[in-house]
Amino acid sequence: MQTQLAPMPRHDFQITAVFKHRIFFTRDVFAAGNPLVGDLLTEGEGLRVLILLEDSIAEAWPDLTGKIERYFADLHFRYCGVHILPGGEVVKTDDDLVQNVWQLIEDHRIDRHSYVLAIGGGAFLDATGFASATAHRGVRYLRFPTTTLSQDDSGVGVKCGINGFGKKNWIGSFYVPFAVINDYNFLHTQDEDTRRAGLIEAVKVALVMDGEFFDWMVSHADNLSKLEKEALETCVRRSALLHAQHITSGGDPFETGSSRPLDFGHWSAHKLEQMTDFSLSHAHAVAIGVALDSLYSVRVGLMEMAHAKRVIRLIQDLRLPIWHEALWERDELGRLVVLQGLEEFREHLGGRLTVLLLEHPGQGKNVHQMDTEIIERCLDDLAQMDAKSSIDLSAD
Ligand SMILES: NC(=O)c1ccc[n+]([C@@H]2O[C@H](COP(=O)([O-])OP(=O)(O)OC[C@H]3O[C@@H](n4cnc5c(N)ncnc54)[C@H](O)[C@@H]3O)[C@@H](O)[C@H]2O)c1
Ligand SMILES: [Zn+2]
Repeated sequence: MQTQLAPMPRHDFQITAVFKHRIFFTRDVFAAGNPLVGDLLTEGEGLRVLILLEDSIAEAWPDLTGKIERYFADLHFRYCGVHILPGGEVVKTDDDLVQNVWQLIEDHRIDRHSYVLAIGGGAFLDATGFASATAHRGVRYLRFPTTTLSQDDSGVGVKCGINGFGKKNWIGSFYVPFAVINDYNFLHTQDEDTRRAGLIEAVKVALVMDGEFFDWMVSHADNLSKLEKEALETCVRRSALLHAQHITSGGDPFETGSSRPLDFGHWSAHKLEQMTDFSLSHAHAVAIGVALDSLYSVRVGLMEMAHAKRVIRLIQDLRLPIWHEALWERDELGRLVVLQGLEEFREHLGGRLTVLLLEHPGQGKNVHQMDTEIIERCLDDLAQMDAKSSIDLSAD
């Protein structure tokens, strides 16, 4: 007979941590008369400031390094210089940039109270953020996003990381930056395609959170596609604040559950980026993913076709793609390769497959399974729409 073991004592403690998520919008952040950064950082004996600058920004803004040096000359920090480093998605495909940043942090004796300021696009910030989050288990990290996408989405988020095992963001962590400083001036030196493409994350967040913002985007599609300054900056700000609102008030900032509304349209997007060896940008892949999941929402009876038509029209008005040939790629068993994105998405989130679909712009609904035949039909529709640029999407 087995003896009954007395239950082992159990001790549960609650760890409560409060994070401040500081987001600023400004112009010409390192101009002599702009007090923002100086006021934000606590100056102190021995506190150091290390600046990481993406090379494309250094090129587009040749006087920036000198300006930063002059800005910090008047402040009481141990200034550790501006370091120009590569950016773009390629820096997420291996750990070279992460290693470089670790080395700089070590060489310049950056401690947990000192500051790392990173200026660049979303990929640069993801990689430098990860290096900063993991050096000494986290040094104070300030993001200065420079692309539309990084200002209207990723820069105001609390995630960082690089790709691993051929999968997006496999290596990474949650790390609340010390501050996010969106300097609108940076937006206007990106090439037009990148500047426009980043608007897709604004379309996405409007669709899942704010129908009125979606209507605003539709009514300003022409201004946005022409990259008119005021429309672009308004859109970036509204999108950034919606993202931040979801992260800070949505109840799951570190994504412990399986629901991920801000990843609407991303299950196929991440797979497409991988299938194209990242030659398809994140933004373009998301445009396709948003079109696909909007159409799918109609085909499973959740949303009216008129809404999906408006979404797809907006994406096209913004001169973004709704189709890529890789969508037709099949494996040796004849299955669409993009469908593997569903399982990879589930694995990345953990738990049960949870995909957000739409009931109407501004209102999402989580589902736990996706019908692969219906996805194929939606892909057919998208291919035809892309060929004709418009199609009669009658809900047959
Ligand atoms: N961490 C998150 O929560 C999160 C969320 C969404 C997206 N992302 C990631 O963000 C990345 C995409 O970011 P992105 O769209 O900013 O692309 P990106 O960082 O690749 O930048 C695009 C190009 O623009 C150049 N560039 C950047 N700013 C410029 C400027 N002001 N002037 C001139 N050229 C400039 C860059 O050098 C690059 O060649 C992807 O890796 C995606 O996975 C992360
Ligand atoms: Zn995204």
